[in-house]
Amino acid sequence: MLSSKQADVGISCKPTTTALGEMPEAGDKRKAEDDKHKGFGKLILFGEHFVVYKVPALVAAVSDYTACSVKLSAGAGVTTVDDRPAVPGYKVEKKDEGDQATALVLKHMGVDTEKQAVEVKFGGNLTAVSGIGASAAACVSLARAVAEAQGKELTEEEINAAGYEGEKGYHGTPSGIDNTAATYGGCLRFQRTDGDPKFTTKKLKQSVEIVYASTGITASTSKVVGDVRAKKEADEAWFGALLAKYEALVAKGEAALDGADWPALAVLLNENHALCQELTVSCKELDSLVDAARAAGAPGAKMSGTGRGGLMLALTPGAALQDKVAEALKVPPPSPSY
Ligand code: MEV
Repeated sequence: MLSSKQADVGISCKPTTTALGEMPEAGDKRKAEDDKHKGFGKLILFGEHFVVYKVPALVAAVSDYTACSVKLSAGAGVTTVDDRPAVPGYKVEKKDEGDQATALVLKHMGVDTEKQAVEVKFGGNLTAVSGIGASAAACVSLARAVAEAQGKELTEEEINAAGYEGEKGYHGTPSGIDNTAATYGGCLRFQRTDGDPKFTTKKLKQSVEIVYASTGITASTSKVVGDVRAKKEADEAWFGALLAKYEALVAKGEAALDGADWPALAVLLNENHALCQELTVSCKELDSLVDAARAAGAPGAKMSGTGRGGLMLALTPGAALQDKVAEALKVPPPSPSY
């Protein structure tokens, strides 16, 4: 399991601690009644960007979540109230994509907004920041809330499918990893295929602490994924060599995770960060956080998610190391935006 701590790194949320192995799952009973329609945040342990090209990735949900409520009434149009905590600038930057995602989920679920008025309210305790899967968490929580408003009982698979549709509003061509983690929680091995994605929940035999921290920079996933695709198309041999290195790495990463071999996992996380640098999806702000975490004693650290901003995670076995690394990653945060 993953136990995580989030640091005050240029974001309204603090460097955050959590634990691999203590992740929430879909049937999580800790939810408050008001927050029953949840989508979890996530951290990609191995495979951001590579996962788009149908190789396996490993992802862990975090316990923070976006919650949603929906009211359907006579009339027309969609009103959205976004009460999520967010890093400064995030909501403004993502507004159009978010509205598009909401429209896609509503359409997928058969809500005709020309014949029905829809009031959507997002909340929850997940700070909206690039890298944490905030868009997927919103889409999944929305799908759950719409289903209830329609009086429908949907399967988790149907909720996940609706979340995936919404993700297209943010990602263009999402791999599906974020919405799957947002729906099911836990720690997952995920692989995109030509058909339905393949994923399995991993039961970790031992919990381990991590810290995650954000640069506070909001990145556009569709743009960064598009840039990677353009680089791939410009030099298939270069990309193929990186992909082959990654595939060997993720196989070892999964074995290290399964074996609770934290020293090995740490080395592999560092190697995944180096591959992200080669892919040009890291940036100086992420590299600085990764360096700071390692300098404070984290044996492994990497960017996580889209990159070019967004966030990083550090493996910090033991509560004392977790606290030390979280402390080292603290910088004065800008004021939260709500
Ligand atoms: C974003 O959290 C992960 C990416 O790999 C995009 C995707 O998988 O859809 C960058």
